Amino acid sequence: MIIIKIFIDSSKLGEISKAYDYGLLDGVTTNPSLIKAAVEEEKVKGGNIDIEDYIKKILLLARGLPVSLEVIGTDSEQMIEEGKRLYKLFNPTSGNVYVKIPVNPSIEEKSNKNFDGLQAIKSLSGEGIPINCTLVFTPEQALMAAKAGASFVSPFAGRIDDLIRSENNLDFKKTDYFPAYGEEKDGDILQDNGVISGIDLVAQIREIFDNYGISETKVLAASIRNARQAREAALAGADIATLPMNVIEELLIHPKTIEGMKGFIKDIVPEYRNLVSRGK
Ligand code: E4P
Repeated sequence: MIIIKIFIDSSKLGEISKAYDYGLLDGVTTNPSLIKAAVEEEKVKGGNIDIEDYIKKILLLARGLPVSLEVIGTDSEQMIEEGKRLYKLFNPTSGNVYVKIPVNPSIEEKSNKNFDGLQAIKSLSGEGIPINCTLVFTPEQALMAAKAGASFVSPFAGRIDDLIRSENNLDFKKTDYFPAYGEEKDGDILQDNGVISGIDLVAQIREIFDNYGISETKVLAASIRNARQAREAALAGADIATLPMNVIEELLIHPKTIEGMKGFIKDIVPEYRNLVSRGK
C-alpha cells in the first residue's frame, strides 16, 4: 500500500518519542530553528546539552526511519564539507541520515551563489548521501533539485501562505487556515508568481514530477500549520508531510467525535458493559 508518510517536524526528544509511540510516524525533520527551540527547552530544564549526544538520541528514537539534519553553510564548498561531516558523524548511529540542503543558500538578492545548492546536492547525492532539498518556494526550484539528485524536495507550504497574506496586508496567525484554492481580494486571486497557495505549490510540483515520471525524488510537504492543510497536502499528492506535534494531534480531533463518545458512554446498559468490558 502506498500512503502518505508522516514525519514529525521537531527536534524535541519528548515530542519525537511521544509521536513514535503512536506508531504512525515515518521520519523526523529538523532545521536550525527547531534545534534552537529544543536546546532552549533543555536549558530551561536546567540541563547542559551535549548536542552530538542529543542528535544521536533523535536518530535512535527514529528507529532507522529518515531524519533530516541541515547544513549551515552559505556556499557549496561549506555545504559539501558539512554534509559529509554530518553524514559521517551521525549516519553510523542508525543509518537514517538525510542531509538537508537549501535549494539556494544565497543570503543576498544579487549573488554568484545561486547554483551552490544544486552543486552541493549533486556532489553529495553522487556520493550516495541522501538529500532533502529545503526552502523550496517554486515548482522550478523543486524540478532543479530533482535533476540534481535530491531524494526529497521540501516545498514550504505555510510560508508561501504567509507571504501571500503579508504582501496583501491580510491579518493572520501562524496556524490560520489558508485555502488551497487561494484567497480573493478586489476580484483577483492572490498569488506569488503563479502560485496561489502553499498547497498549490505542492500540487504544481506533483504535476510536474508526474509529467516526467520523476519518482526517485519524493515531494515532502513542509511548513504545514494545521490539520486541514495536512489533508490538502495529501489531496495534492504529497509523498510525505512533515507536521509539528500540534498538527499531528489536530489530525484526530473533531467536536462531534467527542460528543459522540460522550453519548455512547452515557447510553451503555449494564448488560452490554458486562459483556464487553468483563468478557462475560
Ligand atoms: C521542515 O523541513 C521545515 O523546516 C519546516 O516545516 C518549516 O516550518 P515553519 O514554516 O512552520 O517554520
